[in-house]
Amino acid sequence: MARITASVYTSHVPAIGAAMDLGKTQEPYWQKVFSGYEFSRQWIKENPPDVVFLVFNDHATAFSLEMIPTFAIGTAAEYAVADEGWGPRPVPKVMGEPELASHIAQSVIQQDFDLTLVNRMDVDHGLTVPLSLMCGDVKEWPFKVIPFAVNVVQYPVPSGMRCFKLGQAIRRAVESFDKDLNVQIWGTGGMSHQLQGPRAGLINREWDNAFLDRLLADPEGLAQVPHIDYVREAGSEGIELVMWLIARGAMADVAGGPKPTLKHRFYHVPASNTAVGHMILENNA
Ligand code: DHB
Ligand code: FE
Repeated sequence: MARITASVYTSHVPAIGAAMDLGKTQEPYWQKVFSGYEFSRQWIKENPPDVVFLVFNDHATAFSLEMIPTFAIGTAAEYAVADEGWGPRPVPKVMGEPELASHIAQSVIQQDFDLTLVNRMDVDHGLTVPLSLMCGDVKEWPFKVIPFAVNVVQYPVPSGMRCFKLGQAIRRAVESFDKDLNVQIWGTGGMSHQLQGPRAGLINREWDNAFLDRLLADPEGLAQVPHIDYVREAGSEGIELVMWLIARGAMADVAGGPKPTLKHRFYHVPASNTAVGHMILENNA
């Protein structure tokens, strides 16, 4: 049986990828950001997953604004790194896991969540920056990835509760796959940030830290927070945080199992225009 062993949560600020690609990680500004991931890079070496189910958002890169699926699962064998305007990032292509992805699609759709199937997709900073943060500079990513794209770019976007329940369905889907696979689920994006308009640059440390507290201790209550609170408190792009609830909903305690272990928590302001949050939870079931 495949098992979800851990969940990882992290921001995906594109400038973090650029800092790595341009060799700036030792500069004091960036050193403070990367110091929060030293533990994580060691942890993932010691706890290597076979597959990462990576919940992220596309930023009008693969889907443009002509067609925007709410939830889209990658069923391809590989994914090219997207050109977001400065050429593709110099990072490895992403290897998929079509067999497990197809099984999850079948199971989750049968559980009444309508997913879009994606057989070809270039992946943008929403997916590659979390990989870079967790793995560092590598020649190949050390695991397969199932990209799972969520629309948080154009309204209407899915609610926190919808995401949380989808996470529960993903857990059931993974556990009904008959190959022994160690699967991690990652929720990415956030934390507070707003990139445009009169409130551009908004950061809300208090709200972000309360979000991290509740993500661990009260995920179901957190899932009830309406969109307007995210936007008001965490900025227009703070809505990316609903994706973290998909990963949290897939943890064992939500299904009545034991509480997860908090392995790591990090919060830092700023990286570019964004508050960076990061957490690692290990399942105990
Ligand atoms: C920034 C953050 C994002 O989440 C993003 O998608 C683009 C830019 C930023 O902080 O600059
Ligand atoms: Fe973003």
